[in-house]
Amino acid sequence: MNNISNKEKIIPITSDHGGYEVKKYLVEKLQSQGYKLEDMGTHSEESVDYPDFMHKLASAINKGKYEMGIILCGSGNGAAITANKYPNVRAAIAWQRELSELGRQHNNANILSIPGRFVTKEVALELAEAFLTTDFEGGRHARRVEKIPKILD
Ligand code: RB5
Repeated sequence: MNNISNKEKIIPITSDHGGYEVKKYLVEKLQSQGYKLEDMGTHSEESVDYPDFMHKLASAINKGKYEMGIILCGSGNGAAITANKYPNVRAAIAWQRELSELGRQHNNANILSIPGRFVTKEVALELAEAFLTTDFEGGRHARRVEKIPKILD
């Protein structure tokens, strides 16, 4: 069910140079499966600053322009750290399928952060597919997710 509905949505994707090659592969493969992707760059292996790209995508998710997105950098860390500055963003880093599924099932992650230099293209595709087809479980996880933004003074 989620699979079909995510194919009807526009899914933004972005990376720095560290995730560029994997991003290119994901765009091609996911589009061939029927997903509608918006590629927000970068468009070459030239060195760039990852926050410049992550802010653009995360801010759009934060405002509700898109529901779910995919981000990549070399480690997945800089991308996720930047995206998670936005209150309505929950970016989960994953490097194996189960972590991607858990990001959706338990954390209602709306962004998948992929470490482009630490996964094969095939694994990256598996992560993206899992992310886009797995539902949030709600229940006790909803209570926990609601507590995430409640930072202490
Ligand atoms: C770029 O060299 C690298 O630092 C970046 O892709 C990412 O891993 C940052 O967290």
